[in-house]
Amino acid sequence: MKSILQQQLVRKGTNSVKWDGLERWFRLSEDVLPLWVADIDIRTAPSISEALAARAAQGEFGYTLFAPEAQKAVSDWYGRRHDLIVDPNHVLFSSGVVPALTHIVEALTEVGDGVVIQSPVYPPFHELVVGSKRQVFDAPLKKTDERYEMDFVALEEAMKQAKLFLLCSPHNPVGRVWTRAELEKVVALANQYEVILVADEIHADLTFPSHQHTAIGTLDPRVITVSAPSKAFNIAGLFASYIICPVDEWRKQITKVQNKHHVLPTPFANTAIIAAYTDNRAERWLDQLREELEQQMNDVIDSIESNLPMLHTTRPEASYLLWLDFSELPMSAEERKSWLHHEVRIFLSPGGPFGPQGEAFERMNIGTRRELLDEAIHRLSAQMKRKAFV
Ligand SMILES: Cc1ncc(COP(=O)(O)O)c(C=O)c1O
Repeated sequence: MKSILQQQLVRKGTNSVKWDGLERWFRLSEDVLPLWVADIDIRTAPSISEALAARAAQGEFGYTLFAPEAQKAVSDWYGRRHDLIVDPNHVLFSSGVVPALTHIVEALTEVGDGVVIQSPVYPPFHELVVGSKRQVFDAPLKKTDERYEMDFVALEEAMKQAKLFLLCSPHNPVGRVWTRAELEKVVALANQYEVILVADEIHADLTFPSHQHTAIGTLDPRVITVSAPSKAFNIAGLFASYIICPVDEWRKQITKVQNKHHVLPTPFANTAIIAAYTDNRAERWLDQLREELEQQMNDVIDSIESNLPMLHTTRPEASYLLWLDFSELPMSAEERKSWLHHEVRIFLSPGGPFGPQGEAFERMNIGTRRELLDEAIHRLSAQMKRKAFV
């Protein structure tokens, strides 16, 4: 079978945020390797491209409703892949997961209300809460030798003061696939303190074959789940996401906010969701991608352990993001940024925006050809030697 990850694909010159953004936004030189924003350097499943081409051939692109077939596709997918029974009528369209979370916070909380997050976490979680003039209650994750875990004491303290919890499941950037036992504790606390549970499951379909994602909605019928085929099928630029909201009153409130913000799908969003979730060629493609990502993640970590002994990480259980600890390098976050961009010539996502304990970290996106990752590790190793770090 042909590899998905190792195929040649030139993205530079396509207005790619990841590739062209380096020059356009950061004025960085051509040869800096982009291992940052969370999309990957592959073509989507061929069956999705075919469906989009067929839709394009219709030549009609007027304002579009969320297709009932797309709602059913989401419902069938969640039932089949994650054992979550979803009423198709409970599925709302959203252009993106971040807009969805923002609209949910706006709809279900008031200015000044508390919202729980668990740092280090995908920066928009913090930004959207602050931007909506709600209060962040952070319950930072704890790091053990092996992995990150939830701090249930901190979580309980935060929940006592909050109205809503934004759960990242699987977790970006630490790569945890939360266990059923962990999620049961989350549900118990949320019920005890009457906190609305909102789960961002955008990385769930990229859970590695050796792990099992538990949809938290299977543990509590009131959970709001937000997801998309965007990470799994690498189609983030199509802006096709959704909200599963089983509580009628909340769904009405969210819809009202969405209407205020003119949320509508493009015709291609409907097609993409249907093609990703109903065509078994796409499903087989995804299962191959998950295997390749797990293999590549393990290989990259092994290579980092042998070649970059000053860097440390925990093993992710899903997706393509690696949370790298640079704290043994004697440099500040600002110095590290300049060193990475101008001397090492790689671009990672700096850890600071993920939360206070992220300052000494960088997030590496391993969703690219192995040769580029080897080159990045080689550049890091050479520059560390040059600086006499090793
Ligand atoms: C956890 C998480 N949520 C949301 C997003 C972004 O979603 P969208 O582009 O649909 O707003 C990302 C992208 O990296 C993510 O990692």
